[in-house]
Amino acid sequence: MPRPHLLAPPSSFPGVLGSAHSQDSGCAPASSSYRFHPFVSVGVQSAFNAGFSICDQKSGAVLVSQATEGPCKMPKPGVFDFVNEANAWKKTARQDYMDQVYNLSPSSEASSQGKCGADEKVQESKDIVVTFEDGITKIMFNRPIKKNAISFQMYHEIMLALKNASTDSSAITVLTGSGDYYSSGNDLTNFMNDGGEIQDVAKKCATLLREFVNSFIDFPKPLVAVVNGPAVGISVTLLGLFDAVYASERATFHTPFSHLGQSPEGCSSYTFPKMMGSAKASEMLLFGKKLTAREAWAQGLVTEVFPESTFEEEVWTRLRAYAKLPPNAMRISKELMRKNEKQKLYAVNAQECNIIQERLTSEEYTNALMNFMSRKAKL
Ligand code: COA
Repeated sequence: MPRPHLLAPPSSFPGVLGSAHSQDSGCAPASSSYRFHPFVSVGVQSAFNAGFSICDQKSGAVLVSQATEGPCKMPKPGVFDFVNEANAWKKTARQDYMDQVYNLSPSSEASSQGKCGADEKVQESKDIVVTFEDGITKIMFNRPIKKNAISFQMYHEIMLALKNASTDSSAITVLTGSGDYYSSGNDLTNFMNDGGEIQDVAKKCATLLREFVNSFIDFPKPLVAVVNGPAVGISVTLLGLFDAVYASERATFHTPFSHLGQSPEGCSSYTFPKMMGSAKASEMLLFGKKLTAREAWAQGLVTEVFPESTFEEEVWTRLRAYAKLPPNAMRISKELMRKNEKQKLYAVNAQECNIIQERLTSEEYTNALMNFMSRKAKL
């Protein structure tokens, strides 16, 4: 018996299946023109129900005619056989339907077609490498010789990578570090290497920082930090804007702002007290207490800590599985969880950057920089 078409072309389901977003690039094959509209679950559910009522009627009619018409040497089906037969058919149709839905999802397209499954490099510079594999865009700090300190250039490159990742066909975006550090935070020579007037340079730094942090606040897909080693400064404060943070047991979390005559950024003056309570947040943000990975987990900054020996394998296996989940559902859920906070986060970011602009020209900061450059100070 022919199966009813549960997935009709878009014209049969107006508003349910839209055409591919033009922003989808790279991995989406030309034939992948069916993308789910946010309301698809409602639309497909009704199509699904409608399909099954047709199916029940048809299979019922066939079974009834088998039982009542023509020569029949076999025992006639009883009413229970009828129900079982129809249920079996329903089950097969449902599985078939699920297979078709799965095959339409961008992540399954990417991996099943193998087009993007080979750790494809999508953006590469000296200090940032962006790759795509198995539905995951990975942005890697790649400046191990400087403990992945973030230069001006890297701030711009990370913003570009996030912008691209927000519209590519990946389901999840990951930030991680190469070498022994996740990141030692802001490159302390950024400020000194810029040749302008001190007030102008401070303003430039604050403007860049604000734009940088906003790109994390605005990032629409699940954003995961894979913290492979020690994290310092802005690489820690930003974690409050991530959706999950997986840490090696070797990782540490350190925000030595007072030591540097500086003040918190990355919205941490808001996210940290909210996450861990003000007493614990103060220890980190005022007194620069360095947390172990397990302490950071206990404070809610880290989602899960993994043994160093299995860290990479366990985390990436898990992320590959997560990247197969329906991407639109994850994106919509993230938006629901965050949208009431967005205006607050923009405001906090703006305030923090204004204060940082002032702090950058302070004597306390100048002294701290001089100490670092003359290697009197190390964390
Ligand atoms: N900015 C600029 N350069 C940095 C840096 C940073 N944030 N972190 C590390 N580096 C550089 C070091 O100057 C050194 O450069 P060099 O080889 O040219 O001398 C190189 O990276 C390796 O660091 P080193 O200090 O030799 O390694 P370490 O293991 O002994 O110490 C740190 C690592 C991170 C503890 C130490 O470099 C440090 O305290 N860095 C400053 C971190 C910081 O204050 N970040 C800003 C927070 S707001």
